Amino acid sequence: MRRYHVTTFGCQMNAHDSERIKGMLESLGIGEAVGPEEADILVFNTCTIREKPDTRLAAYLGDAAARKRREPDVVVAVGGCYAEAQRDLIFERYPFIDVAFGPGSIPHLGEWIEAGGHAVPRGRFGTHETFAGTLPMHRERRFSAWVQVSMGCNSKCAYCIVPAVRGREQSRRPGEIVAELEALARDGVKEVTLLGQNVNSWGRDLAPEIRTEFGELLRACDAVEGIERIRFTSPHPKDFRDPVIAAIAECRAVCEHVHLPLQSGSTRILKAMRRTYSREKYLSLVERLRSAIPDLALGTDIIVGFPGETEHDFEDTLEVIEEVGFDSAFTFVYSPRAGTEAATMPDQVSEDVKRERMERLVAVVQRGAAARNAARVGRLEEILVEGPSRTDERLLRGRTRRNTTVNFTGTATAGDLVHVTIEGSTSTTLRGRVASLVAA
Ligand code: 5AD
Ligand code: SF4
Repeated sequence: MRRYHVTTFGCQMNAHDSERIKGMLESLGIGEAVGPEEADILVFNTCTIREKPDTRLAAYLGDAAARKRREPDVVVAVGGCYAEAQRDLIFERYPFIDVAFGPGSIPHLGEWIEAGGHAVPRGRFGTHETFAGTLPMHRERRFSAWVQVSMGCNSKCAYCIVPAVRGREQSRRPGEIVAELEALARDGVKEVTLLGQNVNSWGRDLAPEIRTEFGELLRACDAVEGIERIRFTSPHPKDFRDPVIAAIAECRAVCEHVHLPLQSGSTRILKAMRRTYSREKYLSLVERLRSAIPDLALGTDIIVGFPGETEHDFEDTLEVIEEVGFDSAFTFVYSPRAGTEAATMPDQVSEDVKRERMERLVAVVQRGAAARNAARVGRLEEILVEGPSRTDERLLRGRTRRNTTVNFTGTATAGDLVHVTIEGSTSTTLRGRVASLVAA
């Protein structure tokens, strides 16, 4: 039996695409190998959002090239965002690659691999015509699942390569999404995360007779029996309208957790980034969310060192972070991406300044998150049990509705919803003990 191995880089959308890639290969009778050494088909599902994943990929591909020299029959397939961004150069740069495919051509991957990899004429990327959401899937987790609601992005954020690689936004039909949730619920899934590059503009491009909005999709998903938790990522602040806020507030299963990328707290930089909101607009959105959804957890993404960012702009960002009080934040050093508007902007910030700002940013983020987590001590939280703790096998691990990881003592089985009394905290996790099983 032939065996594949998939190495995944990047975001949750890519992790989910890998589930489709695996499902597709398994539907052809190809099994999963325990490691790359045992595989005849090596797949790399790549990311190109910053320079770092590109560099990591180069190291992995170095190993693949060595393997291929020893065993020429091994098939090397490189997909995902890096492959798409480099589609004109990838075979020149890495001549040993057999199959290259973009995120929009996963449905074709099987045919191309079946054709024997290197026997196929090269340079086939396909177009973004087919929804991977309808492909077979090899799910990585038993009780949680990703559900793709759209692909592509119509925003023009000056730093971001994603619109160039994932194309224009296309919404998946609501009936298809709900049917997938129903199938997942039948399969025992308790938690779903709806995925899209900009989830809350979902629906606007659908045919007039089924055109609808993200708030309505949340309500339709909430009605699916057996799904106890619904999350979504990522919304764009500019498209966060009141009906979506109302749906989050009113839907039983939709969690009190919103990941709301801020990027910068300086209106001047936000404008240069083409985010189309100001610091004040973001802050008022946070207020609208908090007044409608009690006990809301907020996460965010921040970029430091965008071209032209002054010390004053950066301090604005720190101020907004303090003012909002985020529960978690992903922090990134700006990384110029060829082909994006920002890559050729004047006043690129030096690496030293970027690094220094990053250190200060991380300190502020951690201090805030530590305080927010400390405030949970003494409370009873509903946890979806995921399995043993990653750091201590005697403990169990799970997440709260607010998406904080909790390590706890007591007896429970993966997939259970339990109430846990919180007894301790760090800036990223909570600690506790099981109080009771949540009645189903
Ligand atoms: N440099 C640094 N960070 C970036 N992001 C997107 N593009 C870049 C870039 N060129 C960050 C944004 C986005 C997250 C997924 O990655 O914060 O929200
Ligand atoms: Fe995800 Fe963006 Fe990386 Fe593609 S480039 S894998 S969309 S983070």
